[in-house]
Amino acid sequence: MTIILDGKKLRDKIFENLKTKLDKMPKKPTLAVILAGDDPSSKIYVNNKKKCAEKLGINSIVITYPQNVSEKELLDKIQELNNDKEITAILVQLPLPAHINKSNVINTISPQKDVDGLTNYNSGKIFSGEKPYVYPCTPLGIMLLLEEYNIEIEGKHVVVIGRSNLVGKPIAQMLLNRNATVTQCHSKTKNLPEITKTADIIISAVGKNIVGENMINKNCVVIDVGIFKDEVGKISGDVDFEKVSKIASYISPVPGGVGPMTIASLMLNTVELFNS
Ligand code: GUN
Repeated sequence: MTIILDGKKLRDKIFENLKTKLDKMPKKPTLAVILAGDDPSSKIYVNNKKKCAEKLGINSIVITYPQNVSEKELLDKIQELNNDKEITAILVQLPLPAHINKSNVINTISPQKDVDGLTNYNSGKIFSGEKPYVYPCTPLGIMLLLEEYNIEIEGKHVVVIGRSNLVGKPIAQMLLNRNATVTQCHSKTKNLPEITKTADIIISAVGKNIVGENMINKNCVVIDVGIFKDEVGKISGDVDFEKVSKIASYISPVPGGVGPMTIASLMLNTVELFNS
């Protein structure tokens, strides 16, 4: 029988524990979110982050900029937030407008306030097998989901599809640090189904419907990170859930799998940075 990896249920459990912890804290963390440009999905994500923070008793501020904001304006604001003792966590919502150098912006965030774990300092720590201040939110959420369902990582063959800085690269490295055998696939990979068929665990983070039943071995664990609207406006993931869920041993749904875990991780990271 296939087990659904319920991200909503685990998120609620994490929130309950966090709320108890936060209620006892005399001073609360403050999360600053920078939203630059007019990407509609980003606006929804940022709004959700703010609402979740409020529900838990975490202070949050959202600083918005128009699409034509200059890089200097963003860098100056980040410096100001770095120097502000009241601000304990900083997140720059991605994607940024195309004329902005993403790396310059991310790496201006002080590593101690980098709640996304995306600065070169924090990702460098992961890549040298050391502990960063915090791990990137989506990869951390995936690790917590695997842990919750007692899914073994050591010695398993994990196929990661996608190589973004946000998900693909850090999750591959985090799994390698936990002694998985990791294959990283991407848009130029040849014979993808041949590779995925040898996987014990597949993590797909592409944003396109690419994982079909022909790619899955029996008893495989399937983690779907993709979330997008299909041609008819229905929320969809990378995986053909209907068909793949008949073969997989565990599968994360979209929505309700990795998405809620990303936000749970953000709240965990915000508290972690405050206490470190
Ligand atoms: N855009 C989509 N996902 C994320 C995320 O986890 N962090 C940031 N900063 N931007 C995103």
